[in-house]
Amino acid sequence: MPDPRPDDFTDVDDVARAFAEHGYVTDRRLATTTFVMSRLGKPLLLEGPAGVGKTELAKTLARATGRKLLRLQCYEGQDETKALYEWDYGKQLLYTQILRDKAAELLVDTASMAEAVDRVAEQDSAFFSERFLAARPLLEAVRSPEPVVLLIDEVDRADEALEAVLLEMLAEYQVSVPEIGTFVAEHAPYVILTSNNTRDLSAALKRRCLHLFLEYPDAERELEILRSKKTGLDDAAATTLVDIVRGLRGLDLRKSPSISETIDWARTLAVLGVTELEAGVLADTVSVVAKYERDVERSRAALPKLLDPNAVVPEHRHDHGAHSHSHGEHSHGDDDEGPARRAAKDQPGRHDDEYYGQRASGSGDDKAGGAREIPPTTRGVTSSQGSRSFRGSARRRPV
Ligand SMILES: Nc1ncnc2c1ncn2[C@@H]1O[C@H](COP(=O)(O)OP(=O)(O)OP(=O)(O)O)[C@@H](O)[C@H]1O
Ligand SMILES: [Mg+2]
Repeated sequence: MPDPRPDDFTDVDDVARAFAEHGYVTDRRLATTTFVMSRLGKPLLLEGPAGVGKTELAKTLARATGRKLLRLQCYEGQDETKALYEWDYGKQLLYTQILRDKAAELLVDTASMAEAVDRVAEQDSAFFSERFLAARPLLEAVRSPEPVVLLIDEVDRADEALEAVLLEMLAEYQVSVPEIGTFVAEHAPYVILTSNNTRDLSAALKRRCLHLFLEYPDAERELEILRSKKTGLDDAAATTLVDIVRGLRGLDLRKSPSISETIDWARTLAVLGVTELEAGVLADTVSVVAKYERDVERSRAALPKLLDPNAVVPEHRHDHGAHSHSHGEHSHGDDDEGPARRAAKDQPGRHDDEYYGQRASGSGDDKAGGAREIPPTTRGVTSSQGSRSFRGSARRRPV
């Protein structure tokens, strides 16, 4: 296996510093794992709920080390031609057309069809050479003359067959092309795999990787992230906002607010010129972090208490009816189980220009679990809260 570059980071603090310089706030555990990954040259598997910074970590690693980022976006039904390589059929065809006269010349003295076929077969290697190879991210990472960061994003969405294809690459950083031979990486890429745990990954894959479970950050780190994003919201309001978001994560919501949504909420409030948080404006804007009608209702109902634990809140909702009213909004009760709503969890804009390949239709899934009717209760927020609700949503591999 090729050696990783030993000089990208000098120590754990150096990782934290370099990441902070590029706008990514780490904690000790995250910086340590990243440092170890850079030294051991092992792939790093990041698991955790949506929006906790898994993809961003890979992007930041690329920026911090000056490496090119190659991204394989996984989806259901994806096959190895989109991950490893495929033959460029169009180019092969074009070449044969241009070389038609040359081919005719080659066959002019053949007496039978069988002889002509044999003569053509002798030219196989000309058409199955690197020239006609369309490299996809895994092969591209292996062939790159410069060390790269390879992001294999949302690997849990890929089929198990593709997972098997990844194994050779992850174990040896090599890719075999039967017609040509085996490509071995000159420089070990930094490989980051991310998963939302929509299904269990194979033990073979896990064994080959370092593993890090990313949870929602503690209040201090989330505030630091907000500061680093220069949202425009003043510090006192941002501190309160972080506490409120943490309180919302403690509710039984179908989808807990992610870090990116906290950032969006802070920006929204800043744009509205809010300097002091009060229940009204929070209720009016809570849909920035709550994306399901019932979540919006539950969040709105909880806001006054989250803002002020001593607040007296008039009881105005009824939990068992098909309709409940809150701030003039009309709820449709339990109707949010449909596939359309689940598909809506794939928010537009999640994938930027580095998005590789196409999402198979109907592959939208439910990262935060199906909708269950749970009474709106508030629990204390612990740092593992995200992981608990996250684990509860995982689709398990059949035993
Ligand atoms: N530690 C962090 N420091 C700075 N920004 C962060 C951090 N974590 C998350 N963010 C912000 O949150 C956004 C969302 O993060 P990211 O896209 O990496 O989430 P994810 O875990 O990959 O989510 P998903 O599972 O939905 O793909 C980032 O674009 C970034 O702005
Ligand atoms: Mg992601």
